[in-house]
Amino acid sequence: MSSEKRGMHGIWASRWTFVLAAVGSAVGLGNIWKFPYITGEYGGGAFVLVYLLCIFSVGIPVMMAEVLLGRKARMSPINTMHQLTRTYKAPKFFAGIGWIGAVAGFFILSFYSVIAGWTVYYSLEMMTGHFVGIEAEQAGETFGALLSDPWVLMVFHSIFMILVGAVIARGVHRGLESSLRMLMPALFVMLLILLGYSLTLPGFAQGFDFLFHFEPEKLGTEAILVALGHSFFTLSLGMGAIMAYGAYMPADSPLGKTIVTVGVMDTLVALAAGLVIFPIVFSNGLEPGAGPGLMFQTLPIAFGSLPGGVFIGTIFFVLVLIAAWSSAISLAEPAVAWAVEKGFSRVRATVFVCLLAWVLGLGTVLSFNHWSDKQFFVSVTGSSESSEQVYEDFLLYADVAELKTDLGETGGLQYNVAGKTFFDVLDFLTTNIMLPLGGVLISLFVGWFMTRRAVADEARFRNPQLFRTWRFMIRVVSPLAVLFVFYQGLS
Ligand code: PHE
Repeated sequence: MSSEKRGMHGIWASRWTFVLAAVGSAVGLGNIWKFPYITGEYGGGAFVLVYLLCIFSVGIPVMMAEVLLGRKARMSPINTMHQLTRTYKAPKFFAGIGWIGAVAGFFILSFYSVIAGWTVYYSLEMMTGHFVGIEAEQAGETFGALLSDPWVLMVFHSIFMILVGAVIARGVHRGLESSLRMLMPALFVMLLILLGYSLTLPGFAQGFDFLFHFEPEKLGTEAILVALGHSFFTLSLGMGAIMAYGAYMPADSPLGKTIVTVGVMDTLVALAAGLVIFPIVFSNGLEPGAGPGLMFQTLPIAFGSLPGGVFIGTIFFVLVLIAAWSSAISLAEPAVAWAVEKGFSRVRATVFVCLLAWVLGLGTVLSFNHWSDKQFFVSVTGSSESSEQVYEDFLLYADVAELKTDLGETGGLQYNVAGKTFFDVLDFLTTNIMLPLGGVLISLFVGWFMTRRAVADEARFRNPQLFRTWRFMIRVVSPLAVLFVFYQGLS
């Protein structure tokens, strides 16, 4: 049976090593940095509910499909999809899944490394006691000062990329397995300690309410698109990371239970991060919709006043860094594994992938300072004093500072200008388009082109009813959900 063959990259020591690696990939900046800030931007509870729905009805089923494909062919995602497309006589474009994924991984890695660089910076600042006794305002200023300096951002972006390269170059087994075994549990313990702290805050109830109070009227289609996209991002789906890890999974591990474990752990970490961050936000009179800086402006305040805060704060940021690190490795793995199959040495492949992602990352570095006004997909609306909308325009690209000055001279109207920086574009393109698209193609492939028999043999579900339900989810539910959300987003 094909699933018992071993690929050229090796097999995880056990099913639990796979869980560790997959959780290492899934739990990252997406959970601790991104989930709280997008929840803040989209108004809280309603968003969280849709996110949970997406995770359980789309994310986890697609994850099983993705791992199944990897384990079936035991190669890099690009070659896996080439081979399986031929074996099952699927239309050729399914082979493109591997390519879309490699490109998406490379795009994500480029900005992921810049943000992870912030955690390196914050670890050092924590350690040196910079945040002791800090107030909300100073925390905001420190963060603003970091963002406005492209050189500092570049240095920390480079440090992180070197860390990532160092592990990938040595192979995922040697560097990663042993360290993750200690660090992932430590991350969970740290989150619990912080959760205990946030429980004592006056803003806890408000934070809890913000996360779990469902107000359907707050829910727009954009929020649904973002929730769906984030469920792919946070589970590392749709770009081959999980497929690559699936390729090293022992053949006899049951797919269902293993993947549900990974999905649930990832969700718990995200919710815990929200329950830590929002109570601090509300207790300090901060804004939940602060955007990407949310975690970096709130946590230092808490650590600054916590007994032993320097110690706990340092450990916290180091752990976020490690969570980001183990995710970033899985972002590069598909491209690196492919290059190795092409005959490059692992070291060369690593240098090539990391260097390209590093260069692209400079665009993200500049998005926060010199290029912050250079925006794409800019929508301009103008309304008169009676707040009647009288002007509307859409520009593919604009320098919004210049635009605002020009508009100011047109007089009489209140203008609202909203666009996306280079970083926003990369984030949107990958998270909201490429990952869901990759995920749908994966579902359609496993659901409609592989034979039922082949899927059943590889998945090894014990319970036939569960197998039927899962197959229905990937054949019908996930493709329709994604198509529906795309359609809504475009119209
Ligand atoms: N899942 C990771 C996180 O939440 C990000 C990631 C996305 C990693 C896609 C690999 C592939 O931070």
